[in-house]
Amino acid sequence: MEEGIFVSDFNKIIRDKYKLPERVYIFDTTLRDGEQTPGVCFTYEEKLDIARKLDEMGVDIIEGGFPINSEEEERTVRDMKKMGLRAKICGLARCTFEDIDACIRADVDRIHIFIATSDIHLRYKLRMNEEEALKQAIKCTEYVKAHGFECEFSCEDATRTPLERLIKFYKSVEECGADIHNVPDTVGVMEPEAMFYLISELKKVLKKPISVHCHNDFGLAVANTVAGVKAGAEQVHTTINGLGERAGNASMEQTVMILTAMYKIKTGIKLRLLKETSRLVEKYSMIKLMPNFPIVGDNAFAHEAGIHVHGVLAKAESYEPITPEMVGQKRRIVMGKHTGKHAVAAFVKERFNLPDEKIKEVIEKVKKLAVHKKKIIEDDVIAIVDEVIGTIPEVEKIVKLDEVLIITGNKITPTASVQITIGDTKKIVASTGIGPVDAAAKAIQNAIEEKITLLNYKLEAISGGTDSLCTVEVLLEDKQGRNARGIAVGGDIVMTSINAIMDGINKIFRMYR
Ligand code: KIV
Ligand code: ZN
Repeated sequence: MEEGIFVSDFNKIIRDKYKLPERVYIFDTTLRDGEQTPGVCFTYEEKLDIARKLDEMGVDIIEGGFPINSEEEERTVRDMKKMGLRAKICGLARCTFEDIDACIRADVDRIHIFIATSDIHLRYKLRMNEEEALKQAIKCTEYVKAHGFECEFSCEDATRTPLERLIKFYKSVEECGADIHNVPDTVGVMEPEAMFYLISELKKVLKKPISVHCHNDFGLAVANTVAGVKAGAEQVHTTINGLGERAGNASMEQTVMILTAMYKIKTGIKLRLLKETSRLVEKYSMIKLMPNFPIVGDNAFAHEAGIHVHGVLAKAESYEPITPEMVGQKRRIVMGKHTGKHAVAAFVKERFNLPDEKIKEVIEKVKKLAVHKKKIIEDDVIAIVDEVIGTIPEVEKIVKLDEVLIITGNKITPTASVQITIGDTKKIVASTGIGPVDAAAKAIQNAIEEKITLLNYKLEAISGGTDSLCTVEVLLEDKQGRNARGIAVGGDIVMTSINAIMDGINKIFRMYR
């Protein structure tokens, strides 16, 4: 078994059956098809940042955008090219001179031209017949080549186009100099054997390399992409986090890992950068990844059930097909209703520096709690650890609140100014808010310069009267979606709220940094 890869030996039988390519080229379209995800719009800076990361990760071709879309898009793609990345920069164009001219002005390395070829698209979208579309395809391929650019040609909706027609289009553009044929499953209507058949048939008649571009309408984008490679495709279109029109495109993370782990096919991708890149795109796209998303999801290497955790702790590959480190992930032991004592001990050891007898005490308390409470979450164990070790002593706090000044009244906007110390750095930040607690919470959040969101705030009076004690419980979430609960008790509602927030922030810092 190759280092870090623990997949099935049955895959070898399949590997030996096919003439698999040694290397597959990764064409990333996160910045073009990925940006067509409903609700996603990357800024100029975000696009350049993502391009830089894709290049660092080893992507071969970056589809930077659709330059005819706007002057801003053209400028973005042009500036991306100017960055001098190792990856080739590609621009998308319909089969019109106007679209191609925008790509030429953006000075890309490759122009990806497309024209629809299925009956439904020809009749209702293009209002052209087959001959007119073919003429347009030929004219535009010649135009791209005459200007000295690499040309990738796509028959849009290829998978609902008759095979003879597809062959006619691809062969014709090949004769005019097209460098690579892309086969889009535009509406994700293929299944793997059908994709294998289609690419095999095209392989028989085409000389230039073939690429596949699969959409995920039936959840088969990755499987179809891999089937395309098995049939001889040399290039795959993918997106980070599987972003893309409707249900998205084939995810780069899954495709690359399947090719690597199951088929031993090389890509230029630095696997350990997969998680980092996924997180960057998650942040900029503001599309939160499902925790159970393969390879890069937060749960992809998280273990909850007691038996699994025992197995994982004894020998990680018992329940892991690849090591988390390989893809830039970390193994997580999660507390849940199936949690066993091994899991509790591992969880506590990973986060806190506790002597063995204290760990035993925590396990006993967790067991007692489990009798009454079916679901034991990480927070419950953290609360028990806090109880066992007492509240975080001031000296152990990573983020300390030195001073706070709050002004509020019936005619002024509540304003808070805080001074906090993080490690050796002191920060003074002010903020306004809806009320004094909100103003202080915002000032603290701004001062720590890390996105920590207040998910829940609960205030309870312990006794009656205006001088009563109160408890405040807050639930915080950091930018990776990890939660911590902060608790404080006091006589001043505002100060108790601030102390609870500081308690939660320190728990997040202590657990994850
Ligand atoms: O899905 C599709 O058909 C496309 C084309 C532009 C290649 O994205
Ligand atoms: Zn597409």
